[in-house]
This record gives sequence, structure tokens and C-alpha cells, in this order.
Amino acid sequence: MKDLAQLFARQKYVVWRSCLKEPQLSLLYRYANKRADAGTMKSDGTAPGALSSAGDVFMDGLLVDLLPGTEAISDLKLFPTYSYFRVYHRGDVLARHTDRESCEISLSLCLGYQGENPWPLLVEGPEGASSIELAPGDALLYRGIECPHWREALAGESHAQVFLHYVDQTGPYVEWKYDKRPGLPFGRPQSPRSSHLAPAPTLRVRK
Ligand SMILES: [Fe+2]
Repeated sequence: MKDLAQLFARQKYVVWRSCLKEPQLSLLYRYANKRADAGTMKSDGTAPGALSSAGDVFMDGLLVDLLPGTEAISDLKLFPTYSYFRVYHRGDVLARHTDRESCEISLSLCLGYQGENPWPLLVEGPEGASSIELAPGDALLYRGIECPHWREALAGESHAQVFLHYVDQTGPYVEWKYDKRPGLPFGRPQSPRSSHLAPAPTLRVRK
């Protein structure tokens, strides 16, 4: 982790190999594809052909799971903001862009793909641009607001990637904690206890 932290400090990005392991990796890969097949995802302007989803409860769970490692490599205390995942298909591109305020520290994690080769992710930091190949379970940790990133057209059949975003607890973007949601979808304060349960229906019997 110390080597990764030094590289991250210098380059503003670093590859974190095998940060997500089995069985969670295969489970989330299958889940991402099922969500895409179910027609419950949307497209966005950055990757117009791909299907995407923000704040999914399983992916937001991953946001918390990978928080300690992300803090260790970035050498920062972080607040999670939100998760986002995409399922890309052959020919899809990712436009060169930087990310918004909630994405100060970001992980782009490969869940899996159908195709012969990894799909290169291009990222540019103060020392220049690199082409990064991620195997399933590998992630690129990068400063999303500062480092432009993009992809050329996907040559393989499909590719699932999840993005996990954080802000520095003492930094200029702290107001974006939880992406300005009241909390993460599974950790919102409940008052009174069990208020997430709907009240029992009143049965009325017609005579
Ligand atoms: Fe991005």
C-alpha cells in the first residue's frame, strides 16, 4: 500500500490490482449484467451507447467496503459520495472528460468483460497520459476532478465497470458527502426505530 500511496501522490492516479476479490467480484459482475438485461438502466452523454445506473444499493455497499483501502492509498480521510456503474457494448466510447465535485477521489473498477482483451482506459496526470489495462477486480484510483480520462471504441462484446467516488473530509468538496443525499441507501437514520417498515394495513371487511 505504501508504494501505491507514493505513486498516487506523484501521478495523481495509480492502479490497485485485485482490490475486489471473489466471490463478491463475480456476484457483482452477474448483477450488473442482469440489471442491464432488465432494462432498468439509462444512458448518459459521456458514454451515449452504454447503460448506466447511479446510487445502486449493492454498488453503494462496495463504496463502503473499499473505503479503508482507498483512504490508505490516498492518505486521506474520506467521505463516500456515490457509486455509478456502466455496462458497455461493442463500439461504445467514453468521451474524454473530468469528473464533477463529488468525484475528488475516484475508483474505476473492472467487474468483468466479454472479449479477448482488456479494454484500455486512458488517463492523464501531471506526468502525462497512460493507457491502463484492468483485469476483473483491478481498479484505477485517480483524482477525478483533475485527471482527464477516456476510452476508445470497445472492440470486445461487452464490459462492466463500477465507479466509486469519495471526497476528502477536510477538503474543498466536503459538502458533497453522500453526494448531498441524507445518507447512503442502507444507513439513513431511522426515527422512530423500524420506521422503514410500512404500517400494517387495516383490513376492512365488507358485509
Ligand atoms: Fe469519469
